[in-house]
Order: sequence, then C-alpha cells, then structure tokens
Amino acid sequence: MANKNIEQRRARTEWFRKARFGMFIHWGLYAIPSRGEWVRSVEKMSREDYQQFFDEFKAEEYNPKEWASLAKKAGMKYAILTAKHHDGFCLWDTKLTDYKSTKTQAGRDLVREFLDAFRAEGIRVGLYFSLLDWHHEDFPHYEDRHHPMCDDKNYSNEKRDFSRYINFMHGQIRELVTNYGKLDIMWFDFSYGKMAGDAWKAQELIDMVRSFQPDIIIDNRLEGSGEQSGTILTDNPSDFAGDFACPEQMVPPEGIVSESGDNVPWETCLTLNCNWGYNAADQHWKPADMVIHMLVECVSKNGNLLLNVGPDPKGRIPQASVKILEEVGCWLEKNSQSIYSCGLSDFPKPEWGRFTQNGKKLYAHIFQPQSGAICLMNMDGKLNKARLLSDGSEVRIPKKEWNLSEYKEHEFLYLKPGHGNNYPLPDRIDTVVEISLK
Ligand code: GLC
Repeated sequence: MANKNIEQRRARTEWFRKARFGMFIHWGLYAIPSRGEWVRSVEKMSREDYQQFFDEFKAEEYNPKEWASLAKKAGMKYAILTAKHHDGFCLWDTKLTDYKSTKTQAGRDLVREFLDAFRAEGIRVGLYFSLLDWHHEDFPHYEDRHHPMCDDKNYSNEKRDFSRYINFMHGQIRELVTNYGKLDIMWFDFSYGKMAGDAWKAQELIDMVRSFQPDIIIDNRLEGSGEQSGTILTDNPSDFAGDFACPEQMVPPEGIVSESGDNVPWETCLTLNCNWGYNAADQHWKPADMVIHMLVECVSKNGNLLLNVGPDPKGRIPQASVKILEEVGCWLEKNSQSIYSCGLSDFPKPEWGRFTQNGKKLYAHIFQPQSGAICLMNMDGKLNKARLLSDGSEVRIPKKEWNLSEYKEHEFLYLKPGHGNNYPLPDRIDTVVEISLK
C-alpha cells in the first residue's frame, strides 16, 4: 500500500495538477535598490544600511486588482505572493514585529489586499514565506551561509537564541494561516545544510498549519531547495516533505517521478527576465513564444509553470511583463483545452514539438513548421479525427497519399491542401491540433 503521505498529496493536489499555470510575485523593500531580492546579502548591507528602504517604502501605486486582472487575462489559475522574503520584511500586519508594511508610509496590509483581489477573480491564492530571516536578531548571522553579515566577526551568534527565532517564525505562520481565510498554497523557502526539516521544527509546524488549513498544499522546501528535493522523491516521504517539488529556472528533462516511478506533482518556477525581485536594468525578457513553449513543455511532462513578476517600488508590474503575459493569454484563450487538466501523453515526444493529453484527446503542439506532412510516429489506426483546436476546422489525415504509402506504421497530418506543405503554420508560435484517439 502506498505511503499515506503520497495518497494524501495526490488528493490534495488534484486541482493544482489541473491548474498548470500560476503567477509568482516577488515584491518587497528590495524593489527600491532594484538589484534583486538578494541585494542585502550580495552587497553585505547591514540592517542600518538597508533601513533607508523601509523608511522610503510607500507602495503608492499598489493596486492588486490590476495584478489580478492581468493574471486572469494571462490564463493563470493561481498566484503566490512573497508575504516575507529573506530580508524579513513582512507584507502583512504581523503582531510579532514592527518590520512590516503597516509601519511604513504605505500603511497597508498588502497581503490581505492581494488575497481579496485575487480571490475576487476566482484565482487560487498562496503565500511565499522565507524560512530565513536576515532581519531577526536570533537568526544566525556570522558564518551562516547566506546572511549579509556572515563574514563579519562582530556579528557573532553568542547571544542569539535560535529557539526564540523558531517560535517567532511559527507564530508568524500561525497568523497567516488563521487570520487570512482559506489559503491554497504555502510556499516555504528554503532549507540548506543543517537548516532543514527538524531545525525548523517542521513536524510541529506542519501539524499546526494543517490543523487550520487541512487542504493547503505546501512545497518541498521545508526539507529542500532549488538544489535538492528532500524525501518527496522517495517512496516514504516525511510528513513535511511537501505536496509538490519545485525545480527552479529549469524544466526537468523527464518530468519528476519517485524512486518507484510514481508521478510526483511538480512546478517549475521561472523568472520573466533574470531576476525575481524588480530590477530596472534587467531587460532580458523572455519572449511570449518562449514562455508558451515552456508552459507546454511543463504540461507535456506532467508539471506546472509558476511564472514570476517583480513589481516596481511603487507597486506596478513592469510594462514589458504585462505585454508578454497578455500575449500568452491571447494564445491560451484559443488553446486552453490543451493545457488545463492535461498532462503527459501516451506517445513519445515528436520531432516538431510536444504532445499533451487529456484522456482520449491528444494535443499536437506544432512548434516547427514542416515543409511536408507532419508525422505522427507509430500511430497507425489509432486516430479518429483531427481538428485545429483554435477554430475547430478539419486537419486532414492523408493516410492514402501516394508519397506516404510506404510508411504504414505512421499517421500524418496536413494543415494545408496539397502534398504536405505545412508552411507557414496557422499559429506561428504553437499550432495545436486536437486529435481524437480511438
Ligand atoms: C530561491 C531564492 C529566491 C527566490 C526563490 C524562488 O531559492 O532564494 O530569492 O525567491 O528561490 O524560487
């Protein structure tokens, strides 16, 4: 019999495995220096150096309804906001520290407004919560692997009490899971070295979280990180191994399965440029067609795509991101049936693109135009009919054409009249053919 944690995660993640596409939002004080959310650590800034950003933070253009309507337009089914990143700044009205948005000039509970706005659009909601906290005095400073003061002997850990930190951290999470209604996802970040699992008192934490939010799904970073997955990939995952794996900035070559070959729910998180947090100078945007191809690739391997936006200091999502997301949304509007509720296909990856599948519906995602017929390898006799997904028009299955007669084990598609000539494709980015299987 399967381990109970595996059975439970299968049930809990049912909606998640259908949703396939989500929005990640990295926003906090680090938007102001505009050099990414690690700026304090990378530049070894002290608490005092970093204080100017707290003093300045106004969030005057923050309108989460606009974010939510963009996410909706883009076809995203869930969204995850950084309630607290490694710098320790809290976007909600926590009672456990003054290092929070309500004590800045913004004076608002940004988490609550985010949750309200996204729920109103029918989008599922999640919160990112950093297990690291570079602001808290009891979090290890000197010789920690990442702390901004890790090289400075003046920041020795002698008077620091890690158990006090753990109480504080658990208390903050308790606030989030008790005061903000139903949360769909809790996205913890991250474990490293000895700072993993038991060090976070993860069993106690997860019991507490689940006692208030039995259906919440959590990522695997109470044990893992972008570097390693923890016990979620084993046949005996711990109680806090998480419900899904979260590879970062890469799509796993063959999806993610456990030791015994069972599908493990997973989600690739991906930046739209090269930074999670806002960076005005970073204009390395991934074009919409690349994002669409990556989304299709994730789905074709049974995974999700969590695509990031990094709002600016005022709270606006950069125009370049808006434009890309709108383009993705346009494509999805016509082709959504090939993404939501779809997953790995029974057929191997074709040369010209990808397959996704939902029961008897096979979706051929044609990325590369072919000068001749589009080959469906070893699918002889398996097809009923083929239609262009976007408009329902017939796609011919020209089995009996003279030039295909020697390839009896395969089937072929013609999008154009004549002998193949499938150039150009109706949709330059990804032409989706819906194939009904016998
Ligand atoms: C990380 C980073 C971080 C980012 C996250 C997103 O491990 O520490 O800055 O928020 O991954 O996946």
